[in-house]
Amino acid sequence: MVSIYSYCLIYVSLIGYLASVTHACTNGEINDNTVTEKDISDVIQAHNDYRATVALGQLDDQPPAQNMQEMTWDNKLAERAQYWADQCNFKHDENREEKTGQNLYIIYYGGSHAERQHNFTAAIKSWYDENQYYKYKKLQKGDSRDPRTQTGHYTQVVWANTNKVGCGFASYYHTGKKQDQILYVCNYAPAGNYEGEYPYIKGEPNCEGNGMSNSDIDGLCKK
Ligand SMILES: *[C@@H]1O[C@H](CO)[C@@H](O)[C@H](O)[C@H]1NC(C)=O
Repeated sequence: MVSIYSYCLIYVSLIGYLASVTHACTNGEINDNTVTEKDISDVIQAHNDYRATVALGQLDDQPPAQNMQEMTWDNKLAERAQYWADQCNFKHDENREEKTGQNLYIIYYGGSHAERQHNFTAAIKSWYDENQYYKYKKLQKGDSRDPRTQTGHYTQVVWANTNKVGCGFASYYHTGKKQDQILYVCNYAPAGNYEGEYPYIKGEPNCEGNGMSNSDIDGLCKK
């Protein structure tokens, strides 16, 4: 493994679909892009484990959350995320549907082409691990400027009002760079990371007080 890099837009751009973006993986050939049932359960479990950990006040240096919703899988978000991953292009899908958040993660492997196992749990962990740079506050422009200390992936993962996620990935050999790469894309709705807002309301979990009921997962709420 050579390097890991993740990137996200902290300020969601709200534009409609462009009808004619059709090109597929331009950098090489996709070896694997099949999201399995296990992947789906990994994605949901990682998000909800992290969200519950934060909501219950079990993450160091972060306050608990009153209103953290349970995350569920959404096929429509996943389809668009997969379409985007299939471009093999490590940049944001600017034409995704309105009010969709997006986290990206890419991993590069040195050496010659080999079979590479994708691992959504690792991608989501890298986003969550940004919490070390985050101090509970309203989001501001510039929070995502330095890729080494950005926190936008983390705040999307624990954005209280986001309750749907759908992800895709592409594992391919980049012919120009002569390396295997795996690109992960997760789309979120409703989008998080609004400038001037907190990711969640701090305080002990209080679903009822926030117009929701308790989810089956301790610390999380559902509408
Ligand atoms: C996937 O990544 C997670 C988090 O880094 C790790 O705990 C797990 O062992 C990995 N799974 C596999 C099959 O490598």
